[in-house]
Amino acid sequence: MRRKLAAGNWKMNGTGASLSEISALAKMYPDASVDILVCPPATLLDRAAHAEQASAVLVGGQNCHAATSGAHTGDLSAEMLRDAGATSVILGHSERREDHGEANEDVRDKARAAMDAGLTAIICVGESLQQREAANTLDIIGGQMSGSIPDQSTGENLVVAYEPIWAIGTGKVPTLEQIGEVHDFIRSRLERRFGEGVGRSVRLLYGGSVKPDNATEIFGVSNVDGALVGGASLKAQDFAGIIDALQKA
Ligand code: PGA
Repeated sequence: MRRKLAAGNWKMNGTGASLSEISALAKMYPDASVDILVCPPATLLDRAAHAEQASAVLVGGQNCHAATSGAHTGDLSAEMLRDAGATSVILGHSERREDHGEANEDVRDKARAAMDAGLTAIICVGESLQQREAANTLDIIGGQMSGSIPDQSTGENLVVAYEPIWAIGTGKVPTLEQIGEVHDFIRSRLERRFGEGVGRSVRLLYGGSVKPDNATEIFGVSNVDGALVGGASLKAQDFAGIIDALQKA
């Protein structure tokens, strides 16, 4: 059985005052039946992870460097994230692929570093609108998977997030059939590459305009084990609507 996962991606949002949202979640879910993860900006990681009240909520990073240490001004290693209290790190988000020119190989190298440091790598894949309209979605996802997912992946250290780029922050959501098609495809590719045992144990998240009012139907789709949530994870109240839906799924 895969344990479900509600992951919040705060992106470049939040200062110390926002830590109260994490404390609020921790208070609401002292004993959740799903994993709850918040990925705040790196400046908040240590405080978020070590706030006494926030212990029920896992925290994660949004990026890491592929090297363990060295002359890389402004970067953070996976080990540093881990040291600050992170259990996971989001890698290959489309905003990083676009803003920082991250290629599949870069994402793979970062994922290796994350796994070596004991973190779970949440590797994002997803097609652009143009690629979907050209009926290239599965080719794109397949290529991103083989290029970005390292050989050492297991059900513990890998989570795959399907995030169609055109659905991120837009309020547009694919149909349930479209989500199901991609998630089934990701599952079958994982099984083919890593064998059925590992392939079936990796959690698959859907991301892109997940809100409390569409979460239930999305969580009913086959091979959707949770969500990677941007905007609706910033406020505990909104994120709670999604966590509740996942707990009932
Ligand atoms: P969104 O972002 O929920 O605001 O669409 C999702 C993401 O980018 O992870």
